[in-house]
Amino acid sequence: MIRYLTAGESHGPGLTGIVEGVPAGLSITEDEIAEHLVRRQQGYGRGGRMAFEKDFATIKSGVRFSKTIGGPISLFMGNRAYEKDDAGWPTVMNKEKEAPGIEKITLPRPGHADLVGAQKYRFDDIRPVIERSSARETAMRVACCSIARKFLKHFGIQIGGHVLRIGRVGFDSWNEIRLTADPLMENGAEAVYKAADQSDVRCLDEELSQGMREEIKIRRKEGSSLGGIYEIVITGVPEGLGSFVHWDKKLDGKLAQAIVSTQAMKGVEIGLGFESGHRHGQQVHDEITHEDGSFKRRTNHMGGIEGGMSTGMPIIIRGVMKPIPTMLNPLSTVDMKTKKETETRYERSDVCALPRAVVVAESVIAPVIANAFIEKFGGDSMEEIEERYSL
Ligand SMILES: Cc1cc2nc3c(=O)[nH]c(=O)nc-3n(C[C@H](O)[C@H](O)[C@H](O)COP(=O)(O)O)c2cc1C
Repeated sequence: MIRYLTAGESHGPGLTGIVEGVPAGLSITEDEIAEHLVRRQQGYGRGGRMAFEKDFATIKSGVRFSKTIGGPISLFMGNRAYEKDDAGWPTVMNKEKEAPGIEKITLPRPGHADLVGAQKYRFDDIRPVIERSSARETAMRVACCSIARKFLKHFGIQIGGHVLRIGRVGFDSWNEIRLTADPLMENGAEAVYKAADQSDVRCLDEELSQGMREEIKIRRKEGSSLGGIYEIVITGVPEGLGSFVHWDKKLDGKLAQAIVSTQAMKGVEIGLGFESGHRHGQQVHDEITHEDGSFKRRTNHMGGIEGGMSTGMPIIIRGVMKPIPTMLNPLSTVDMKTKKETETRYERSDVCALPRAVVVAESVIAPVIANAFIEKFGGDSMEEIEERYSL
């Protein structure tokens, strides 16, 4: 089974990742990992510095001659701001000595991990909470999960995501989404992300993309922030991954956990999701057909999963991201030191990170699918798995 851990703080020396359980013989390079890291950095309203400082993860172990060797793969991504001593980060994040005069941050932001993180770990300064809870960590998640993505790709399983809604602007119905995304999915889910990446808000519809940009502009002017809704599709999944026999073997449950455990994600839908609560049975369940020697469904309202198992139809998952908690226009808070009511202080932050978060969501579900695949067809090497899963 593939497991991964990340370590590191946003403004420390860098992020480390360890991925273990990857079968031997999978071909992987640093450039392949970099593809999704760069995608994670791109989105509307970004630019300038970001265009130059591209995230890059160095492989430190577990790979030889561009192939995995069965041992843990370790990755490292240096933090340039720390290396260049920008803004004194090596002093602020020093692992040994506390320099005199380092400011304690005591104004927790509503909606962030600040207050409860400080309460939980008994800090009188929220800096350590910010450093570990912030979404900088998702860069290493994307790097680690790119390896699982590559594994899936080898077996014809592709993942792609796109934005459905940002604030008030978005697709209105399931049917509209299907008409836009399904023709692309015919060529595999990567066609979906490649088309979505043409838009800086990662939306497949040009008119909606324009509306989303306007929406972001409006909220930026107001000093506010936005979240939104996205969809991830997975194509090429064979039937029978996951199982109905135990709660912790259900594929839909595991996918939901992967999404909701990502920063700022507040909900998940599989297939038609919440809309199925508005419809009656005949409008929801996918009728079964038999074509060209295999079972199919006339529709895919269940999003490719029935009874916690993949049906062989594309898997369709939607996630909702809440608006970014750091906003120029402040909210009320309480100073942890004085216990007096005051206002939040602004730190440099995105207005809407949803287009970038889509890449994180694509990534975090990859190990879930890869593990369900390995559970069914697994082995210690790619060769062994290939024998068990005839391509
Ligand atoms: C890709 C991405 C980028 C984010 N960027 C920011 C940001 O710039 N500022 C911010 O306050 N929160 C940002 N967030 C959200 C916070 O990390 C998140 O709200 C916080 O860690 C609290 O966790 P929770 O929202 O899951 O409760 C981002 C999230 C993601 C997925």
